[in-house]
Amino acid sequence: MASVDSSPSAWPCAALRDADLARRTTLRVGGQAEWLLEPATPEEFQDAWRAARERGFVPRLLGGGANLVVDDGVLPGVVIATDRMRRIFRPFPEVSGEEALNSETPRGEMVQRDPAEDPRLVCWAGATMPALLRSARELGYSGLEGIVGVPGQVGGGVAMNAGGKWGDMWDCIELVRVGNDDGSFVDIARADADPLYRNANLGGRPVIGAVLRFDPQPKLLIQERMSEYLLHKRTVQPVTEWSAGCVFKNPDPEISDGRSAGRLVDEVGGKELSRGAAIVSPLHGNFIVNTGQATATDVFTLMEDLHDLVAQKTGIDLVFEVKRWRAQDVLTAPTS
Ligand code: EPU
Repeated sequence: MASVDSSPSAWPCAALRDADLARRTTLRVGGQAEWLLEPATPEEFQDAWRAARERGFVPRLLGGGANLVVDDGVLPGVVIATDRMRRIFRPFPEVSGEEALNSETPRGEMVQRDPAEDPRLVCWAGATMPALLRSARELGYSGLEGIVGVPGQVGGGVAMNAGGKWGDMWDCIELVRVGNDDGSFVDIARADADPLYRNANLGGRPVIGAVLRFDPQPKLLIQERMSEYLLHKRTVQPVTEWSAGCVFKNPDPEISDGRSAGRLVDEVGGKELSRGAAIVSPLHGNFIVNTGQATATDVFTLMEDLHDLVAQKTGIDLVFEVKRWRAQDVLTAPTS
């Protein structure tokens, strides 16, 4: 691995050394990234990606940190955070998806255009999910109400096909731009994609941005649906506490007799388990909550405990939905 100049100015975008990651995740555990790069545009992202690869690192990608457990200690290598790539805009009317990602209608012209004429939005990867839902609601764009309350950013939401019983992220996707290993971008139209349950099947490539197509509807109706879903979610999930969302994917209903992961954990007594300050939510068995000072080790151990308990009592091998970044996994790339 090539040696890395220890000055932040050696990188082609904003860069931080030994950057704290816990506060950048919704679970609030974990240590530091040796390098954290913060590109503000897709072009800067490309430069940052290439710079990391040239120095021998495979960058890890950090979006809203909503589905992630970061290890304690220092994570060697490079993390690229998409926080600053947060733009959401309406494209020029009638342009193709590829062009839409590159073109923004000037604000002056936009005010005069009826949003229903071309009900699309372009989002860069770092736009937050709540910001996207707010924009859609304000424009009278229906389609994503079902994922109200999903935290994180659009990049992560697209990559993992975030969703729930009322709908999935990919219900509204027209086109997604992803990055290749060499930093080049490629556009994937909805028709050419094969998104699966909680996995958009993009080959692990970073999402750079997306074009979403909506169904124009009265704002009031959209607002009502969002409020109803959110209200329900608050009664069954610990939405205001520190967690990484659902720990496990739901198993194939044929194997589990239709029982969700949360219900299985509940049935086998998993809600009684805890490790340090990491507990299983009394509200929902598929959530681990950091009650204050939990470490990544507490959380990793509790996740394994839950997995093993369900396997022992039911024979069902639950699959982790949350991503785990282990300090010992050093990701290196060949340098030329
Ligand atoms: N249940 C229990 N005990 C529990 C939790 C749930 O008995 O502790 C039962 C519920 O009563 C219900 C069933 O299990 O009959 C399913 O629970 P819920 O409706 O909460 O849905 P889920 O399948 O657990 C899924 C997604 C959530 C999404 C919700 C709502 C997965 C793994 N989870 O949860 O997504 O918010 O539907 O749409 O697909 C996430 O992906 O991070 C996530 C939270």
